[in-house]
Amino acid sequence: MAESFFRSQPSTSEIEERLEGYPSWLEVDLDCVSHNLEEIRGRAGVEVIPCVKANAYGHGLVPIVAHLMRRGVRRVLVAKLWEAEQLREAGLNCGIINIDPIYSEAQYDYVVQERVTQAVFTRRVAERLSQRAARLGLEAGVFVKVDTGLGRVGVRYGEAADFIEYVSKLPGLRLEGIFSTFTEDRAYDRIQLERMLAVEGELRRRGVDPGTRSIASSNAILHMPESYLDAVRPGLTIYGVYPEEEDREAGLELRQALSFKARIELVKRIEEGDPLTYNRRFIAPKRMRVGTIHVGYSDGYPRGLSNKGLVRVGATMCRVLGSVSVNHHIINLEGVEADEGDIVELIGREGENTISSLAKQAGIMTYTLCVGLNPLTPRVYYERGRPVALSEPKLKTNIPNRKEDPPHLNSH
Ligand SMILES: Cc1ncc(COP(=O)(O)O)c(C=O)c1O
Repeated sequence: MAESFFRSQPSTSEIEERLEGYPSWLEVDLDCVSHNLEEIRGRAGVEVIPCVKANAYGHGLVPIVAHLMRRGVRRVLVAKLWEAEQLREAGLNCGIINIDPIYSEAQYDYVVQERVTQAVFTRRVAERLSQRAARLGLEAGVFVKVDTGLGRVGVRYGEAADFIEYVSKLPGLRLEGIFSTFTEDRAYDRIQLERMLAVEGELRRRGVDPGTRSIASSNAILHMPESYLDAVRPGLTIYGVYPEEEDREAGLELRQALSFKARIELVKRIEEGDPLTYNRRFIAPKRMRVGTIHVGYSDGYPRGLSNKGLVRVGATMCRVLGSVSVNHHIINLEGVEADEGDIVELIGREGENTISSLAKQAGIMTYTLCVGLNPLTPRVYYERGRPVALSEPKLKTNIPNRKEDPPHLNSH
């Protein structure tokens, strides 16, 4: 299934040709994703259930899941039912745990028929799922969410054993596991883990098998080995990003998979005193050369990088001048050899414009930067340095150049 996704992709040369027409695009190095998966597996020693919500944290849902499946991942976690649909539409038959709430008949039928494991924590949902499954003559997998203290969703830990026992006996339901989420406050996390283990103990005392027990996501994978239980659920770390700077010291060697490229739209000279961007957020202190990039915060380039962001142009890091607007930002090209159409790197995998560095410059979380990347921006997936897959909007103009078209200016 996952193999056939990659087999159905355009050839390397076709991807390279299409790339010539992109004003901006994201690149994802799948070898980095494999590396991070192995790092986490090596550390945790239990099943890894990657969290692929929010378009795989901006990396592109379907290609990421297809790749993870090739690397032996059996189950993934999504936060929207449409993500489950996209995976099934793409022919990917992995286990899917869905934490999106469901309300309509069609949604209930969908999760049962498409073997999507639904997160449950209320009798109302569990009973309705049981009825739908029975009516369809199928079995519905469920994962019970236990609220051990985060206070968001889940059956409260004190009531969890009763609820889970009840669910385990409902016809048509198969209890696949129980899971919870930490507050990520070290001392309190220990209390939460104890609560989770107490729920499990009580279930076993009653003769109920809880199935897969899972509580650790990235933070606990990095800092709390005793919480690995039967499965860990990494999100950000699968993509090679440390949630916080201090996490670099936790002994997990992660490799950022994503980079963001664009072509310079316009190069020009401005005079001393000339303003740039809305509210004249930048006034030229002298005559200077600047370049406009057709990427703004609607593409996911954070507005907080106004007058701060660093863009790599060749070997030089060029500062953003003025504000980042919906579709544009401007960079300082003083003393840099660069022309219209040249490729620049907005987010790099190393150096001063990594996800971590830019998030810090913009005053936002690394999570916010990743999940804010526009899902419609083309994404090119690389393995061993070669493009192997592509995701792009279906557009009449997204086609390779004809042979007689001139090559793009300086498309190195
Ligand atoms: C239920 C669940 N599990 C796992 C994760 C992954 O978290 P992280 O990206 O911090 O590893 C999330 C993300 O918020 C989540 O909601």
